[in-house]
Amino acid sequence: MLPVVSHAEGVFVYDQEGRAYLDGCSGAINVNLGHSVPEITARMREQLDQICFSYRTQFRSQPQIDLTARLARLAHGDLHQVEYCNSGSEAIEMALRLATLFHARAYRPFKCTVLTEEPSYHGMTAGALGASGHPLRRRDLNALLANQATVARVRPKNGALRADVDDWEEAITRVGPSRLGAVVIEPVGGASSGAVPAAPETLRRLRELADRHQFLLVADEVMTGLGRTGRWFGCDHAGIAPDLMVLGKGMSAGFMPISALLVSDKVAQALDHPLGSLLFGHTMSGSPLATATALAVIDYLQDNDIPARAARAGERLRLLLAGLNRRHPLVRDARGVGLQCALSLQSDPHRFPGTSLELTDIARQEGLLIYPAGVTPVLESVMIAPPLTVTDGELDELALRLDRALTRLTPRAPATDAHEILSAGRS
Ligand SMILES: Cc1ncc(COP(=O)(O)O)c(C=O)c1O
Repeated sequence: MLPVVSHAEGVFVYDQEGRAYLDGCSGAINVNLGHSVPEITARMREQLDQICFSYRTQFRSQPQIDLTARLARLAHGDLHQVEYCNSGSEAIEMALRLATLFHARAYRPFKCTVLTEEPSYHGMTAGALGASGHPLRRRDLNALLANQATVARVRPKNGALRADVDDWEEAITRVGPSRLGAVVIEPVGGASSGAVPAAPETLRRLRELADRHQFLLVADEVMTGLGRTGRWFGCDHAGIAPDLMVLGKGMSAGFMPISALLVSDKVAQALDHPLGSLLFGHTMSGSPLATATALAVIDYLQDNDIPARAARAGERLRLLLAGLNRRHPLVRDARGVGLQCALSLQSDPHRFPGTSLELTDIARQEGLLIYPAGVTPVLESVMIAPPLTVTDGELDELALRLDRALTRLTPRAPATDAHEILSAGRS
């Protein structure tokens, strides 16, 4: 049975029994600033006392106006219009609706196929799950996922973990550019692949192909966005700007539900302007409280130069994980970008997913929270993605707890040797 949570501070979460858990996966890889950050909660309290909710068809709000301007400035390209939702899944749905409308209004209604990768994960609502290359989560739900006829998938070949340029080009030819409306891609994989990045040249080539064949390039930055990978956005590693960008998770760092769809001028201008009335939305979308919270989070990220800090901490974390890889035969590989990292695990195809769930459970017993990932035995992994504010000492402690969990799971594993484990992080 799961422990009952009591309170949290920084990278530690406490249960009602008084046990401390080091949050090695930032909750669901969203608590990017750690828990209970006074700078954020004070700003939330200020907003609570002014107004929590106003309806988007009746009022704009100052936090929302400021947040839109800030996001538009931070993102590359001309992603100037921002629409708000409450979860990553909802914002993906909005991206799918917008891509479909974009082509329909330009008298290209047949350009309605959405191409996504397997592995990928884009959310749990019907459209987003239907677009996800995540057979485990889609299993037995095909009757509900009405968009299966308009979703096509690209799969990596030759044992690769992500599709490369050739795989994408082949898939685009198979679908036919005249039918292809949008490509949705995660710059760095999350729950589906366990932190496997798309190669920067793949993203750059997709940008070129999108322009040539008039499909929209949609970056799912729900996990990668706002500093997680050591840059503001995952696409920044490839130096490209998508036509639509989806943000969630780290946007409010776990303090409030909020997500966003950033829309390029090209798309916005081809449709009604502003888009709000066209896209419809959700009751709570972009409330003053949620947008004020996200604005406080972005202020904190900027004031403390958090993306750069995540890049440095990520380097140290990967060295520590590589050390664990050398010590434990159960670990296949250590990988990731910034603080979106994972250990890939040896897995038994007959009891998949097994190892990642077992390791997650044992790690919790050792006082460490990690996140199971991977849609196939070859991708079975656990994500290690602590808050972007994690200190060197906390990273060391994370590695020691993870080593103890791996040792408990592996027969004849080496005894925990703190010196060996920690010196890997300094090499
Ligand atoms: C890349 C990606 N897209 C979309 C989602 C869905 O977001 P939410 O859980 O907020 O609906 C997730 C959640 O894990 C995700 O990692």
